[in-house]
Amino acid sequence: MQKKIVIGNWKMNPLSLKEAEKLLIEISESFSLIKKTEIIICPPFIYLESLRRLLKAKNYKLKLNLGAQDSFWENIGAYTGEVSAEMLYNIGVKYVILGHSERRAMGENNIDINKKIKSALSSGLIPIICIGENVRDEKHEYLNFVKMQIEESLDKISRNNISKIIIAYEPVWAIGKGTLPATVEEFREMSIFIRKILSDKFGIDNVENIRIIYGGSVDEKNAEGFIKDGHADGFLPGRASLDSKKFSKIIKICEVLNK
Ligand code: 13P
Repeated sequence: MQKKIVIGNWKMNPLSLKEAEKLLIEISESFSLIKKTEIIICPPFIYLESLRRLLKAKNYKLKLNLGAQDSFWENIGAYTGEVSAEMLYNIGVKYVILGHSERRAMGENNIDINKKIKSALSSGLIPIICIGENVRDEKHEYLNFVKMQIEESLDKISRNNISKIIIAYEPVWAIGKGTLPATVEEFREMSIFIRKILSDKFGIDNVENIRIIYGGSVDEKNAEGFIKDGHADGFLPGRASLDSKKFSKIIKICEVLNK
């Protein structure tokens, strides 16, 4: 059984490095004892290096690492505006979110995500792969949609590497302001479905420890149910990760329920 993981996706927030540092300090200092739960913070690229230095200087006794919100599939070269997985690794980043629905909405597809996953893995980053349907239809077509996302984005990933990934199930209809989260049952069923697809493709032994986490309007009120009854391995909160009180409550819930 893997330890629970809570990954804060700050998206394009906050507006200044000063605010980013303040938020990271508030989060890190809001616990006295978190031993088992892994915490990952994914700020915008531009803050990563300074936040890494800050964490090093403060030397908090937490399993807190930094992640990026995207990375490109090539290592180096004429790719204006892109940042490679290797560059991120070289500044001390350990994780990267790939295939977030907000990037898919800008045109990224499963083939792009597959190339990004391969590059992240070969650079030594742990990919957090986001999957999830836009809508749920009565004929359950959304199951095929999620299956295709998994199969195409994980195409030709080696059996050795597959156990390193984290899957975040984030139904698009549950993300952001004015939406409702998935129910615990919806998550539990989907997580069984996802693990079955993974195990058919890579063999049960290689995928039984892959963490399948939930994202989409997660907060300090609904987190407990997702873990207790949904068997979630952790969370990928967006808005709640920008509020140190809410975010630390989610982490404390995971810590208490960690086996
Ligand atoms: P919210 O928690 O704000 O709904 O965002 C979820 C998300 O997209 C995290 O990646």
